[in-house]
Amino acid sequence: MKEAIRRFAETVAEMYLAKSSLNYAAQAELEEFAGLLTAVDWSADIQPTPPAGRVAGLRHLPDALAAAYAAGDCPVLDALRLCIGLTPWETYYARDAWSAPFLDDFASGELIGPSGTVKNRDISLGLFLLGPDTTYTEHAHASTEIYYVLGGGALWTMGRADNAKAFAPGDLVYTAPDQRHDIRTGERPLLAAWTWKADPGAPSYHRSGGPWQDGAQRFPALVNRDLQQAG
Ligand SMILES: [Fe+2]
Repeated sequence: MKEAIRRFAETVAEMYLAKSSLNYAAQAELEEFAGLLTAVDWSADIQPTPPAGRVAGLRHLPDALAAAYAAGDCPVLDALRLCIGLTPWETYYARDAWSAPFLDDFASGELIGPSGTVKNRDISLGLFLLGPDTTYTEHAHASTEIYYVLGGGALWTMGRADNAKAFAPGDLVYTAPDQRHDIRTGERPLLAAWTWKADPGAPSYHRSGGPWQDGAQRFPALVNRDLQQAG
């Protein structure tokens, strides 16, 4: 089990380093994230995470995986075959006005991280699944976040409602600290690997008053967590 997750982490790190040489704007962060992924301590025993209850969004996983493998073979997908079944999928967020628009079409699972299958406090690596025609509502967080798109695709909107860009399999999406963003799918689902500089003191937040409004910072309620921390 541990070796499968390790292989997945190392292939993601290799992909980050390969992309960093292509002059991505986030070159320093890509190299830092790759270093953190390869520095994970694999010596501790791991315990499979107990099921977190029904995750309705998982019904989109077969289509998302089909889209990923239809996009072509790559080392990350090869490694994903071995650890997809180890992913501790969950809804992560409790239901409220902010999460309700996507909660039934969403699943996330942390393979490495403070709450992950492999415990680590410096970086998180997980999988993110969003069904078709769904918007993962605008939010921000103090941590840098990097997604690697595996299957399907989505439109990432950054900073303001009209600043959107489409991303497809093989693309990296870099989100700077405190950068507002939302993620919206079209007719295809989205499957992506996400990495997050784990910091339980820097949770995700959104603004009251709806997307792109400047209301007070609000922290969504989480399930299955003692501390607020989000990706
Ligand atoms: Fe985010």
